[in-house]
Amino acid sequence: KKSLVSITDFSCDEILKIMDLAARFEADPHRQVLAGKVFASLFFEPSTRTRLSFESAINRLGGRVIGFSGTSNTSVSKGETFHDTIMTISNYCDMIVMRHSIEGAARYASEISRVPVVNAGDGANQHPSQTLLDLYSIKKTQGTLENINIVMIGDLKYGRTVHSLLEALSFFNPTFTFVAPDELKMPDEYKLFLRGKGIPYTETRSIEKALGDADIVYMTRVQRERFSDPMEYERVKNVYILKNSMLENTKPNMRILHPLPRVGEIDTDVDGNPKAYYFKQTENGVYTRMAIISYLLGAVE
Ligand code: CP
Repeated sequence: KKSLVSITDFSCDEILKIMDLAARFEADPHRQVLAGKVFASLFFEPSTRTRLSFESAINRLGGRVIGFSGTSNTSVSKGETFHDTIMTISNYCDMIVMRHSIEGAARYASEISRVPVVNAGDGANQHPSQTLLDLYSIKKTQGTLENINIVMIGDLKYGRTVHSLLEALSFFNPTFTFVAPDELKMPDEYKLFLRGKGIPYTETRSIEKALGDADIVYMTRVQRERFSDPMEYERVKNVYILKNSMLENTKPNMRILHPLPRVGEIDTDVDGNPKAYYFKQTENGVYTRMAIISYLLGAVE
């Protein structure tokens, strides 16, 4: 059984394989390669895109979905442990797709489950399926994953999508620019990871300075749910807002990605700019998740 808990569970070749499969599913999204398979969709934490794009991907490929979104109607509300919940549900399905607020929850589930586990986000840690759809979006818009100049903006401390994406892009000679307030800087462990691989990065607090050379601008939301002090969130929540006027001197083929949801960090005027790619990115999530689950189950060549 092979799970996807951290993006580093996949080799560079496997990442490229997922890119190839996602393109094939985009060309033909109705192959019934998951017929007869049952998927448990366990969202202990809220989600719109990840849960519904996984469930859409499963349904389109002929699989069936069981599960929950929020635990108020499950026996978790009676005090059942996470261990017992996973042990039970892994008897009911061929794969678990799960999101949980605790870092490491998906790894633990993958160790005790009879079936593969896909991590749909664990706290501020990892969100590997988001990373694969981000890579697919980068490849589609830039024609390659190699030598991408990427600017990551916003909450680089708690934003799990930037952590997974940084690790995956490191296979492809990227250059990083991190734009964050002091309170939300990229954690040292990820900067050490880049230094260890000789991958260049710069840090700045100026969004305007960073945009000029960017191929990809990766905006993120300040993750209110991860702050223990609400006043600290209030201080930093609107620190970066991307506006149309900032995009005038950017590269013609630059594209703006955002994992979404947004809460104001991209002005809605930007939505009509040809450089805005974030809603197309959500569509790419369906093809990429088709690729991930069918690859993990050995349902495709
Ligand atoms: N990008 C993302 O994870 O969105 P949701 O929280 O809506 O799933």
